[in-house]
Amino acid sequence: MVRARSEGSFSQVLRQQRLRCGLTQLQLAALSTISVRAIRDMESGRVASPRRATVALLAGALRLTGQARTAFCRAAQVESSYLDKMVTESMRSDASVWTTDGLVGREHELDAITGLLAAEPRQRLLTITGISGVGKTRLALEVGQRVLAELDIPLLWVPVAEAHHDWIPNAATPPLLEAMVELITGQADTSGELAAIIGTTPMIVFLDGLDDVPVHARALLRLLADCPHVTVVTTARVPLGIRGECVLPLAPLAVPEPGQERDLDSLIQVPAVSLLLRQLAPVQPDFRLNPANASMIAGLCRMLDGLPAALGLAASQCLMEPLPHLYGQLVDDPRNLHALICHHPEPMLYAAVMSSVETLPQPHRRLLDRLLQIDGCWTVDEAAGATGLSRPELTRSLHVLFIRGLLRRVERHGDYLISMLNIVRHACAEIHDVPLSRADQAHLFAIM
Ligand SMILES: Nc1ncnc2c1ncn2[C@@H]1O[C@H](COP(=O)(O)OP(=O)(O)OP(=O)(O)O)[C@@H](O)[C@H]1O
Ligand SMILES: [Mg+2]
Repeated sequence: MVRARSEGSFSQVLRQQRLRCGLTQLQLAALSTISVRAIRDMESGRVASPRRATVALLAGALRLTGQARTAFCRAAQVESSYLDKMVTESMRSDASVWTTDGLVGREHELDAITGLLAAEPRQRLLTITGISGVGKTRLALEVGQRVLAELDIPLLWVPVAEAHHDWIPNAATPPLLEAMVELITGQADTSGELAAIIGTTPMIVFLDGLDDVPVHARALLRLLADCPHVTVVTTARVPLGIRGECVLPLAPLAVPEPGQERDLDSLIQVPAVSLLLRQLAPVQPDFRLNPANASMIAGLCRMLDGLPAALGLAASQCLMEPLPHLYGQLVDDPRNLHALICHHPEPMLYAAVMSSVETLPQPHRRLLDRLLQIDGCWTVDEAAGATGLSRPELTRSLHVLFIRGLLRRVERHGDYLISMLNIVRHACAEIHDVPLSRADQAHLFAIM
């Protein structure tokens, strides 16, 4: 936990000045009105960057004036630049946060988020929401890498989902990261410690995967209040529900438009197609997009909702069976889609989708069930007609379903058409233990 410090570091300067005055840590605490624990943390190097106000109180209690006081305060500032380096290094040196595959699509989302992070005043709390496997973590990583490259702001990447389950800090774990994990996972209220470390340093903290973790909203709010230049970017399937939170609902990748399979040059540009082909390349190196297989590729992308994780599962299935077999099974019986996703060695995706449906508050869940009865794509007016709900009631619930990524929309002739994700239809049908109707099955092939 305690990091080795260079000569003249604040921890050493503080200790020297205290001993010069002949004070114990307890006496300095009483004189400065700062807690003994905070003084101990600063002297041990655990707190790297005390707040300006703390430094001023200490300087007063140590009766420092003139040059001695300036040197004392400067030592504390040196620690801030050490902090910048330390947190950024935690992102640079952690292999798990680096991506080596190119991001497909998402240019607009990337611009929007980095724009919000660069704007003054900066957005303080931003949550990327959406269904499991849609690419929230992948997008956040890209944002982090862009911020590292373009903005002069230190970053801290906190893999909350992993930390919650099997994460054990080691000697290389920055104290800041450890304290942040303890705060967010509710192991300890380290907000005071974090405030002492971060102080007024500008920083972007990424909290990835706040799904199964009880978020301690109050502690997070305190962190935001105590560290006025910290911005928190989170990824979660549902928003945190904190006032002022900016929510970016991430939709799946765009799928081919009606008839787009007839134009290969344009088909290959569609993000879902582009990702599927890229995922297929290592498992079926001889596969080429051509006029004979274009409808199959386009159909597969539509059936899998353009969901990156599902496209990856389909591609990896091609290690065991040729793509036309897989596609044929899905065409014969769309329930095989469920089998593909559910029985894959990585069954987390489907379980997470089920949980997104099951944890919906009742009114929204009821609407989802009613929407299941409408075939294909629909407008808000059509949904109002079919469900009998008033428009305000309907739009309130639709909003929740969109934020959770259970619906997707496409723009057609200046209007928005909305549809339920196929994987969500399956989850709903399974929850009610009803087979999908013929109309539902036909919907799986509907042009989105
Ligand atoms: N735009 C993209 N380009 C390339 N690969 C992507 C893209 N989006 C997602 N992926 C890949 O798809 C998979 C699922 O994405 P990711 O883990 O980011 O989903 P998620 O929304 O964070 O899911 P969960 O809610 O389960 O955490 C990952 O392997 C990721 O690298
Ligand atoms: Mg994730």
